Parts: sequence; C-alpha cells; structure tokens
Amino acid sequence: MNTRFTNDLRIDGDRLIRRIEELATVGPIEGGGSCRLALTDEDRAGRDLVGAWMSEIGLSVSVDAIGNVIGTRPGRINGPPIMTGSHIDTVRTGGRYDGNLGVLAGLEVVETLERHGVQTEHPVAVAFFTDEEGARFPPDMLGSLVYVGGLGLEAALDIVGIDGAIVGEELARIGYRGIAPCPGPVPHAFVELHVEQGPVLEAEGITIGAVTGVQGISWTELTITGQSNHAGTTPMNLRHDAGYVAAAIAVHLRHLALEMSDGRSDRQVATAGRLDLHPDLVNVVAGLATMTVDLRNTDEKLLRDAEAELARFVAETATAEGVTVAERTLARFEPVVFDDRVVETVAGVATELGHSVRQMPSGAGHDAQMLARVCPTGMVFVPSRDGISHNPAEYTAPADLVAGADVLLHTLLALDAADFDNETKRIVEGRNQ
Ligand code: GLV
Ligand code: MN
Ligand code: MN
Repeated sequence: MNTRFTNDLRIDGDRLIRRIEELATVGPIEGGGSCRLALTDEDRAGRDLVGAWMSEIGLSVSVDAIGNVIGTRPGRINGPPIMTGSHIDTVRTGGRYDGNLGVLAGLEVVETLERHGVQTEHPVAVAFFTDEEGARFPPDMLGSLVYVGGLGLEAALDIVGIDGAIVGEELARIGYRGIAPCPGPVPHAFVELHVEQGPVLEAEGITIGAVTGVQGISWTELTITGQSNHAGTTPMNLRHDAGYVAAAIAVHLRHLALEMSDGRSDRQVATAGRLDLHPDLVNVVAGLATMTVDLRNTDEKLLRDAEAELARFVAETATAEGVTVAERTLARFEPVVFDDRVVETVAGVATELGHSVRQMPSGAGHDAQMLARVCPTGMVFVPSRDGISHNPAEYTAPADLVAGADVLLHTLLALDAADFDNETKRIVEGRNQ
C-alpha cells in the first residue's frame, strides 16, 4: 500500500491533553487515576462528558443496545465508516490513559478534520465501547464483542457482575440502554490508539508500536469449598483448607508460567488477581475461597497446554486436601492477528512522520481484537513509563500522546483511501468463543 500520504495536518496536542486531564477528574482516586468501573455512576458521568464533547464537535451520536456510544462525522459517500475509538471504563485502580487516550485521540482527529475542512470519502466514527475492562462484568471487551456479533445481546444483558448487579439493569439505570441495533454496521476499517501498558517501547527508546495482534486470553473463576474449623484445635492432616488450596494454585501458576516461558519473561503469563476467603478471620481455617486465574499466550496451543496443566494441578490438590472446586469460564479469546495492510500503514505513517517504530504484539486485551473479526483492523501503541498500567501511576509523556494521535490521524486518512470494500469480512453467525 502507498504510504506517501502524510501532509502538514496535525492534531492539537494541548486540546487532547486538556481533555485527558478533565476526564481523569471523573471518578478520581488517589494518585491521579480514576475508578469508573463499567456501568457505575462514575462510568455514567464519564460517558456524559465524552458524549457532550462528541456533540460539541458536531458528531451525530448514537447509543446501541449494549451501550456502545458512537459519534459519526459524515463522509463524501454514505457508506461504512472508518472507525476508531476504545473505552472509557476503567479497572478499580485505573490510570488516566488506558482506553481514554484512544477515545479522546479519536475525537481530536475528527475535530482536526472539522476545523481544517478536510472531507473524507468514508464517514469517520469514534466509538467508546461498553465494559472493555471486564473487571466488574466479565468477559472483557463485552461491548465490542456484542457489536461484532460474537455474543448475543440477550446473553450479554443477562451477565451478572462481581457485585451481583446485572448488565441490562445497570445499563437502563444509567440511561445508556440505547436503541441502535447490535450487531452494528461493519466498518470499512478500524484502528485503535492505546498506551502499550508494558515496558518494551520505553526500554528500546521507540515512540510508536505498530501492533501485529493480541495474545489469547483465558479467565477462570475457581470456587473452592472445604470446611471451616478452629485454627488452634484442628490437626494439619485433618484440614480441608480452601485457603491453602487457593494459595497452592497461585504459587503453581507462577511456576507454570516460568517453566513454559523457558527462560523468557514474556511467553506465558499467569495471574491470580482476585482471592476472597471466607470467613476471612485470623483463627478460622477458611471453608470457602473464590479466586480468579488469568492465563495469556500468543500461541493458542500453548495457552491450551497452560489451561490443561492448571486443571491437572487443581484436581490433584483438591483431592489431596479433600475440598471440591467448581470452575467457571469468565472469558476465553483466541490470539488475534491484525491485518497486514493496516499494520504496514501504521508503520509507514509513523516513519513518514519522523517517529521510530517497531512491530509488536499486544499483551493486553483490546476492543480492536473484536473488530478484527469483521473488518481490516490494527492498533497504534505509545510508550508507558516503567511499563506500568492498571495503576494510577500510569503515565505517557505528552509528546508521545501527541505523536500517537498524529499517527492515528494519518493512518485513518490513508485507510480512507484504501480499497478494502470487496474484502471486508462479514459477521459470521456463531463465532462466539
Ligand atoms: C483488558 O483490558 C485486559 O487486558 O485485561
Ligand atoms: Mn484498554
Ligand atoms: Mn485496561
């Protein structure tokens, strides 16, 4: 694809950074981050703010039945839009860039086009998708999954969160159960700007990542039932200690990941991120433990091997301790490979704008991995200081934020001119994994 397309058009960096800072004040937490768990009052306030910005810029704003919000600027033709965007929900300890950057840079792109009177061929759409994080309502990427037809609307609306709340009820409560249909229209192409959330770009002194794909994700909830008993009187060999089994699983996950990584630090990752013990008291053997396991690998076969090893260890340990373990899959997505043409366009644009660039896979999950099921898709990464994310300390230097948004702008313009239409993949019924 021709990558000689950049011109003098640039986004307004101050405006982008002002909006990032203002959005971070919605659901503020100590350390400068935000807590906007999906479909909470804080999420609603963030949605209201970003929706108001969409309207101010002159976009026509629609809300679909799973609460995805899409602002569209018309193109010369009334065809499928070039789409960008990300999410504005956060984990409980969210930083100010994860997701927000992609949405606000999308707004910045359309505002730049608007102010400079640039007419695109396709409409340009900026989306923020519901519940990308999946921290309150698993799976992650829920809104974009429903948008592409990977999960039926009714099943999504019935999902119960970690606090017992239900997606459909919470959507209605915050006023974001919209009427635009799901699945939504298939875009001409989709590109998402995101902070890397890992250490690679910073370590290598590179400004732009042209993302080649996203690793596979496997989330499981384990409920371990033993017997609570007196901590002083119960001999060790007579215990059915759910807390011990949970701890053994957490330790085994670390060994499993290190062994499978074969000396490399990044091949297989494994995390026990949530652990609740009951009754959670100093002098009582825990009778109940609920924990989550997050396994990720870029190779589907290796990810399955990790899942099989986890299952083997859980069964063996449960039998030895005399506890039962119930398993529930919270999310399971295979690794995704992005469209070469989009990856090359991102890399070409970055080079032409004078930035250092490398191709790289994503360790984190993203809405782009869902859009990749239906249209040519790619992502742009910018560096994360110290590789820190899902933490209020998340930070990306202003110059890198601006560089990423300019790469996004010119990538979208290049894709506007690309002839993908004959090849655009169609939604495949039942591709619900
Ligand atoms: C979701 O964003 C994840 O990667 O956990
Ligand atoms: Mn994100
Ligand atoms: Mn995140």
